[in-house]
Amino acid sequence: MAEEFLVAKDLHKSFNEQRAVNGVSFTIGKGEIFGLLGPNGAGKTTTIRMLSTVLEPDSGEITIGGHSVRQDAEAVRNIIGVCPQELALYEDLSAIENMVFFGRMAGLSGKDAHAQAMTYLELMGLVDRAGGKVAKFSGGMKRRINLAIALMGSPKLLFLDEPTVGIDPQSRNNIYETIMGLRDKGITVLYTTHYMEEADRLCDRVAIMDGGQIIKMDTPYKLKGEIGSPEQVTLEDVFLKLTGRSLRD
Ligand SMILES: Nc1ncnc2c1ncn2[C@@H]1O[C@H](COP(=O)(O)OP(=O)(O)OP(=O)(O)O)[C@@H](O)[C@H]1O
Ligand SMILES: [Mg+2]
Repeated sequence: MAEEFLVAKDLHKSFNEQRAVNGVSFTIGKGEIFGLLGPNGAGKTTTIRMLSTVLEPDSGEITIGGHSVRQDAEAVRNIIGVCPQELALYEDLSAIENMVFFGRMAGLSGKDAHAQAMTYLELMGLVDRAGGKVAKFSGGMKRRINLAIALMGSPKLLFLDEPTVGIDPQSRNNIYETIMGLRDKGITVLYTTHYMEEADRLCDRVAIMDGGQIIKMDTPYKLKGEIGSPEQVTLEDVFLKLTGRSLRD
């Protein structure tokens, strides 16, 4: 594997008495696209929230780009971008105003924020809608803006929490192409999804999560090869085999 960019060691997090994340460990290599797959409530978002410095683990250690999340959250925040599962946008602002706002929050000068906003709107195929109010955007366009915002500040590591959930094929394709393009630029990506086919095409490695634990982790090809011919079985089959349940339930 390439140089380790993210190291998560034995993460635990409970809410009241319930264990949301129960002993999760993995590493992500620099430039790798790593998929976290699992059914509703598996602990994917809780894991991302701990990795992205917004939720403190009960125990465990996280290092990103050589910085400890516990000891130097600020340094970590400077090199990560987060595309949250719930859209985080100001509906009454235009696309460009949203992007400049979040860019300024990320510490960019007004000029840089504006320049980056235009670059990433272009990348997401939304430059002609830059001045449009987000409230008027389709769900897929909002998802694309949500991802464009995560790119503000040009992070080295991106957390994408179900960036393609419930959107039109055009937006899905655009997001898919964007992620591939980011990988070509050497950006590291942690990605969660319910869409197994998408994970299979995009991810260098995937971790299958269930009940707060990683139950299997490898390349999609090897995981499929464990239960049959990699050309014939799907990651969905792998999940079903491992848990006895379908991922989509
Ligand atoms: N802030 C919270 N307070 C209480 N319980 C929580 C909180 N956040 C998550 N949980 C619980 O922790 C468990 C894991 O939730 P999490 O959101 O991490 O799952 P997920 O894998 O992201 O699911 P989904 O696919 O639905 O997004 C769930 O049982 C959830 O109800
Ligand atoms: Mg989630």
